[in-house]
Amino acid sequence: MRHHSVEVQVPAKINLQLAVGPLESDGYHQLVTVFQAISLYDSVKISRDADEFSISITGDYANAVPADENNLIYKAIDLMAEKHSSQKNVLVEVKKNIPVAGGMAGGSADAAATILAVDQLFELNLSREEMAECAAQLGADVPFMLNGGTAVGRGRGDEITPALSRGTYHWVIAVSSTGLSTPAVYGECDRLRTGLPIKQPQLNEELLQALLSADSERVGKALSNDLQAAACSLRPALRLVLDIGNEYGALGGIVSGSGPSVAFLVADEDQSLDLAVALTSSGVVGSVIRAQGPVQGARVVAHN
Ligand code: C5P
Repeated sequence: MRHHSVEVQVPAKINLQLAVGPLESDGYHQLVTVFQAISLYDSVKISRDADEFSISITGDYANAVPADENNLIYKAIDLMAEKHSSQKNVLVEVKKNIPVAGGMAGGSADAAATILAVDQLFELNLSREEMAECAAQLGADVPFMLNGGTAVGRGRGDEITPALSRGTYHWVIAVSSTGLSTPAVYGECDRLRTGLPIKQPQLNEELLQALLSADSERVGKALSNDLQAAACSLRPALRLVLDIGNEYGALGGIVSGSGPSVAFLVADEDQSLDLAVALTSSGVVGSVIRAQGPVQGARVVAHN
């Protein structure tokens, strides 16, 4: 049936492991990463037959993203039109709840949502592989946001293999009021490692075993992020945020992706509330989000 509009909900991600290899000649780094999608969502609604491309953004972070052709959503619409002949004259309505430039793949999530919405709206019937191919052209994190769950990312982070994970993990996310630029954090990582031998990144098998056995204490201890030192170097206050989590008994705490969001794993809902209150009252974080993972990736929630 031909729909006039399709709305897709898409989650944020955190990286439970982010191992960064040497800088390659294309300006990217070889990665091994373990992603988990968490229950914090943007929504992207696309309607057909508009006079021209337009985008309207509401939600917590509406003011922090461009509502024009600089938005990754537009690049996704453009790419889908070029490769799969879908319309470019669409109305896009975004509810933006994932922090912007926060290391939680907010822009990538919206791009993934756009690919799925366009596929459904224009009945393209693309395979998962065809959608993943478009996704990878838009950014390293975009393919994972189509899948969600828990997954290993290799290459630039865009070669995804689902990971077996049991149980539900409770996360408390400390969000900064200003973001960090991903290229700047990778650049700082390179600067800090100047002159050091850089190994090819390796998957942390202990983390995967812990996820398989639903052992959140072991998962907490196994969290690691090679970009954390760089994010803390550019934003020293992040060390204070990490200390608060440790003091309040988080099972583990980590800068998410390139930061500056910090993700704390806690044992249960009670601990999640306690830590959220402690972080909020500390005065060193912009806001606090409580979420659970893993959750599924981009999915259609409404059409008409
Ligand atoms: O692919 P995406 O646009 O999300 O990447 C943003 C930036 O992050 C890149 O321009 C690059 O500086 C850095 N990056 C990297 N190595 C990766 C992924 C991202 O250096 N594997």
